[in-house]
Amino acid sequence: MDVKVHILDRPEQLATHGAARLAELSRRAIAERGAFHVALAGGSTPESLYRELAERYRDELDWQHIHVYFGDERCVPPEHDESNFRMAREALLAHVPIPDAQVHRIAGEGKPEKAARDYAKTLRERVPGGAKAPRFDLVLLGMGPDGHTASLFPGTDILQRKSAAAAVYVEKLHAWRISVTLPVLNNARHVMILVAGDKKADVVRHVLRNVEGAKPLPIQHVRPAGELEWFLDAAAARLVAAEFGH
Ligand code: 6PG
Repeated sequence: MDVKVHILDRPEQLATHGAARLAELSRRAIAERGAFHVALAGGSTPESLYRELAERYRDELDWQHIHVYFGDERCVPPEHDESNFRMAREALLAHVPIPDAQVHRIAGEGKPEKAARDYAKTLRERVPGGAKAPRFDLVLLGMGPDGHTASLFPGTDILQRKSAAAAVYVEKLHAWRISVTLPVLNNARHVMILVAGDKKADVVRHVLRNVEGAKPLPIQHVRPAGELEWFLDAAAARLVAAEFGH
């Protein structure tokens, strides 16, 4: 695993640098393998990156050869305010010429376990796989203050699941979620983790210092075979900036 940490002065630079990296990875994947399979992150942090892609890369990227999936979804209908699909559609997918058949949302409106099984089947059938699991060219992730990523929350059994996707009831949210699992995340060619804001500074320090002996947080189980890149703004990196020469 090759790890790179980028600390950017301003939050909006996560969007510009992240979008440029995604564009570069998509060009490389399409040139080498004829397609780019990417799993988008949910939450609020990546929204500006999606808007940047729609505004700056609409005519730059080869959307006919790009296939979009989701790292996780809330168990709500696609038009719901909480839907990760809705956020990505409004910020990006509705504004670029990607064929509808190449956008693979998670059916958050369905029964969680069935929706998770169906999504695992979609991943196995659509994402070219290594021997072990579907292999995304790129997975975008965020991170919560508790070190969760996608819907892999601390203390939940989804961290041990081997299927490509699974449903999980998150006690503290009183909500079901559907998420890709560690075997898929760790089989990715490239993982980009986007983290912004002062509220994340403590968990960034904990994770990047890799505190010996501490119980690993879910994000620390993300150890992809390929490249792992962190994109942090100065606020999130406040407690580690010196160690990373910022
Ligand atoms: C979700 C995401 C989740 C998110 C983190 C960070 O569905 O919410 O998958 O893992 O990336 O909670 O969220 P923010 O970007 O909103 O801080």
